[in-house]
Amino acid sequence: MAVRKIIRMGHPALRRPARPVNEEDIGSDAMHRLVADMIDTLHDYGGIGLAAPQINEGIRLAIVEIPGGATRYGELAARELTICVNPEIEIVKPDTAGFWEGCLSVPGLRGFVERPQHIRVHFTTLKRERQTISADGFLATVFQHEFDHLDGRLYVDHITDPHKLVFEEEYVRYVVPAEEASAAKPA
Ligand code: NI
Repeated sequence: MAVRKIIRMGHPALRRPARPVNEEDIGSDAMHRLVADMIDTLHDYGGIGLAAPQINEGIRLAIVEIPGGATRYGELAARELTICVNPEIEIVKPDTAGFWEGCLSVPGLRGFVERPQHIRVHFTTLKRERQTISADGFLATVFQHEFDHLDGRLYVDHITDPHKLVFEEEYVRYVVPAEEASAAKPA
């Protein structure tokens, strides 16, 4: 197990669609080692999700793990470690909501992105079982963000208002207080 280097925006591998994992490779020793590296890397960098292309492995594999409580995305509901091989997204309801996303491959920045908030996620587990889970709200955003990496997309591709791409320090200093002030106003 090892912490791997996360490649950053500008590295061409982040823009290449990843290839599906072969059935016979799912659950192999090599895949278990890769997943262990991804978990170590996620914990070391302090993220909540990581896709294999971010460590320059061009396969359709991503992990999500939300510790819950106070995180760099505010107070979050916990989500146990979920390892997704060859995932697909099904949009259950088209209504969208926006979150200030960040990405370990785009360090130091935050951007406001709107995405569908009610999805189902279909994927294969390391035991080669096909599984479906429902994800709503921020968790739906996290899965879509991670699986975008498998298609060579980054969250910045989805930003519709360029004013809403900011540095993290300025996000904390200006955006968070402004959003708290507007949330506190009576409707
Ligand atoms: Ni990312």
